[in-house]
Amino acid sequence: MVEKRSVMFVCLGNICRSPMAEAVFKEITKQNGVSEKWHSESAGTGGWHVGCSPDSRTMAVLKSNGIQFKHSAQQLCKEDFNKFDFIFGMDNSNISEINRKKPNGSKAQVLLLGSFDPEGDTIIEDPYYDSDNRGFEKCYDQCMRSCKAFLAKYT
Ligand code: 4NP
Repeated sequence: MVEKRSVMFVCLGNICRSPMAEAVFKEITKQNGVSEKWHSESAGTGGWHVGCSPDSRTMAVLKSNGIQFKHSAQQLCKEDFNKFDFIFGMDNSNISEINRKKPNGSKAQVLLLGSFDPEGDTIIEDPYYDSDNRGFEKCYDQCMRSCKAFLAKYT
């Protein structure tokens, strides 16, 4: 059996950006025929939404792009740092929180997902308080570009 590589996508609440990233990542690995080689999850640095489905705007943007997805929000925990090869934050505040939780000597590489964006749009802004879908559509585009570039580098 081929050993899987693993990625964890992390935002603040795990209802808007990181589930979008997880859904996009799963879709690209499926399209590329490499889904068996990857394990992916998403989580929040905070626990307020644990057990909740993604925000309806995340689901609407995924659906309009032909992606089906189900998810129940979870909180990033210490064990994740030795379970995953890569832990991706969406913004610098996520990265600070992830690094604060990271046990010394754990294996995960902590990176901004947007550091792979070929267009250089490194920060995936929090769209939760927006009054429309535009921030979610931008988040989708950023996740798509960065996940594609990451997979091109590591597959
Ligand atoms: P996310 O967005 O981190 O992309 O899931 C947020 C979701 C919920 C909250 C903040 C951001 N909140 O404050 O409840």
